[in-house]
Amino acid sequence: MAKPFSSVDDWPNHKDRIAHFWWVALGGQPQKSYRYDPVGKHFSAAFNAELLEDWKQLFRTVISSHIKADLDEKWFSRVEMIGENLLTQNDRLMGK
Ligand code: HEM
Repeated sequence: MAKPFSSVDDWPNHKDRIAHFWWVALGGQPQKSYRYDPVGKHFSAAFNAELLEDWKQLFRTVISSHIKADLDEKWFSRVEMIGENLLTQNDRLMGK
């Protein structure tokens, strides 16, 4: 997982963008006007099914230690849906 993230040169900005993305994706009201290009950026970062699987396990570990059990299931199923969608679009760009 380290290699794809070597493309990030401004970590505070990256973290702020990601935090805001997930805030909104998981039901928060938008606070900023960030525009995202997740499909293009992940394609450039060599995103794939295996990295997504690792990433989901990390996400699951973090939310299960911070969020109440029923909410953590709801959040994780949304994360799985979003991840699956990103993978489908990535595969399409790869001509799979
Ligand atoms: C559900 C799964 C994931 C979602 C929804 C997600 C979402 C995002 C979003 C919204 C951004 C910001 C894009 C932008 O600034 O326009 C981002 C950046 C990034 N993500 Fe993910 N991500 C996921 C998993 C992964 C995985 C598995 C990897 C490993 C390859 C990854 C690598 C990156 C990298 C390297 C960036 C920074 C790209 C750059 O700024 O150049 N992400 N992600």
